[in-house]
Amino acid sequence: MAGKKRKKTLRTVHVNAGAGYDILIEPGILSYAGEHAARVCPKASKAAVVCDRNVFFPHAEPVEGDLWDAGLSCVQLLLEPGEEHKNIETYSEILAFLAEKRLTRDDVVVALGGGVTGDMAGFAAATYLRGIPYIQIPTTLLAMVDSSVGGKTAIDLPAGKNLAGAFCQPALVLCDPYVLKTLPERTFLDGCAEVLKYGALYSREFFDSLTDPESVKKDVARVIETCVTMKRDVVEQDEFDRGERKKLNLGHTAGHAIERCSAYRVTHGSAVAAGMAIMARAAAKKGYMPEEEARALEEKLKAFRLPADTEFTAAELAKAAMSDKKASQRTIDLIVPRRIGSCEIVRIDIADLQDWIETGLTW
Ligand SMILES: NC(=O)c1ccc[n+]([C@@H]2O[C@H](COP(=O)([O-])OP(=O)(O)OC[C@H]3O[C@@H](n4cnc5c(N)ncnc54)[C@H](O)[C@@H]3O)[C@@H](O)[C@H]2O)c1
Ligand SMILES: [Zn+2]
Repeated sequence: MAGKKRKKTLRTVHVNAGAGYDILIEPGILSYAGEHAARVCPKASKAAVVCDRNVFFPHAEPVEGDLWDAGLSCVQLLLEPGEEHKNIETYSEILAFLAEKRLTRDDVVVALGGGVTGDMAGFAAATYLRGIPYIQIPTTLLAMVDSSVGGKTAIDLPAGKNLAGAFCQPALVLCDPYVLKTLPERTFLDGCAEVLKYGALYSREFFDSLTDPESVKKDVARVIETCVTMKRDVVEQDEFDRGERKKLNLGHTAGHAIERCSAYRVTHGSAVAAGMAIMARAAAKKGYMPEEEARALEEKLKAFRLPADTEFTAAELAKAAMSDKKASQRTIDLIVPRRIGSCEIVRIDIADLQDWIETGLTW
């Protein structure tokens, strides 16, 4: 387009899942969203942009402008922000909107926002007309490194998080590091929790290279590329979460329980940080991991101003963690760190969960 100068800093990660798609990472790529959407959805005549009110003001305009420029007529749905709205009412609102605007299977949904918007708009796209294409444009660090990639879409039910959803891969993911400039610091740090998770799971070297939030900010495009490459490798191996992909849940059993116990006052990334610390301490005390490794993880979380503990008791957390499990479920898969850069899936009796959490609450 005339007037737009393009820098050659594009990073591409291809994901071989679903029909196959690219994750494109480039500062400023938001302003080329239309061009990319038209390329991956050549038959589309409409784009439904779903975003929340915090994202709309700074970021919807360039996206929608370029969608129009690319010949797509743009319709827009604004959502209330927050995990408490990741529910069946909002999901139903998105479906009603897509129907009212008469989107067809050739058209495209554009999820512009954090993991909450991406999960819900993705689920709506996966189910509306039995599935129409969708594009993820993540605007939080957490969504860039994690939720926008891999095709897990979901909403929460009163019984627990992400209890209704679908596996449905996006047609494209566009990551624009510039949009992180408007992110509240706390939300940025939340994303750092998932970044550190990749280091704890797969790479000591990557973990060591991240010393504090500034070290992520300084090199954020590379950090995003490293994380999504790790996630891509796992998703390609286990798209439907039957084995290796479960490892991405490091810290999430306790983390989801903390989110629930706090009525979602504690955000996802912070809860996962505390959940990872709980698992690391439990792993060390139970002999799975050297104590100094667990302490290194704790220290790292502190350097990122992330919580390494929680106000809730082991009984409260175990009850919350089990509330969404079927009564017949006797075991649960815990992701247990062995050292920084390597974790193992350990199947435990569900009755032992409280003891694991209790063991990991403190030293
Ligand atoms: N599908 C998956 O594989 C997967 C993986 C990890 C997490 N998740 C889900 O992701 C969700 C958490 O995602 P999140 O942390 O992005 O939360 P979020 O979507 O609620 O975003 C956090 C806050 O930041 C605001 N925001 C977003 N982008 C902004 C920007 N650029 N500038 C200013 N404000 C902005 C939002 O309005 C919101 O208030 C959880 O529901 C979690 O379950 C899903
Ligand atoms: Zn997570």
